[in-house]
Amino acid sequence: MGMEIVHELIRGFWIIIPAYVANASAPFSGGHGRIDFGKKLFGKDVLGGGKTWEGLILALFIGSLCGWIEIISRPYLNPIALENGFTLQFLTINAVFCIALGAMLGDIFASFFKRRIGLERGESAPLLDQLDFLFGGFLAASFFVPVSIVSVVLFIFITPMVHYFSNYLGYKLGLTEVPW
Ligand code: CTP
Ligand code: MG
Repeated sequence: MGMEIVHELIRGFWIIIPAYVANASAPFSGGHGRIDFGKKLFGKDVLGGGKTWEGLILALFIGSLCGWIEIISRPYLNPIALENGFTLQFLTINAVFCIALGAMLGDIFASFFKRRIGLERGESAPLLDQLDFLFGGFLAASFFVPVSIVSVVLFIFITPMVHYFSNYLGYKLGLTEVPW
């Protein structure tokens, strides 16, 4: 029982890495080219200045790159998983790209929603800010590999903590404007 949870944790991690990495990479772009082209909807930014093309492209590139490293590592790692009674999902370049894209679309959707309810760029939306990319990533992954509900639930609990910690680090390093 206990080990099965650990297996689901590892399997969840395996498929969500490209999403995590993509989401974490975007702030490093230092991008300014707004995805919404500065357009407004009913007087409010469509997405806001925190969603840039540079950030999106860097996220997709680095997320896919890490996914590709997973793909080439699987022949070495999966036998170890098998010895322990589970398997690492078979990933393709299409799958990892789509997982990274799903994460970034989830993040964009969250910003769209935040602007609609009147929150400014960078203003905190607890849980939404932390989970947007995760849902996008797992949803995209589900088109390619089996995604267990257990692993999704585990990551719903883990991610806000990781996200908060990494954003705090990013804030301290001057990459994001606010610590969330
Ligand atoms: N970022 C980017 N392009 C993206 C996503 C993120 O350039 N597509 C960069 C921005 O510099 C952004 C930072 O990553 O400020 C952190 O992303 P996020 O927390 O999602 O944006 P916020 O600035 O908090 O804006 P929002 O309120 O819209 O979430
Ligand atoms: Mg934010």
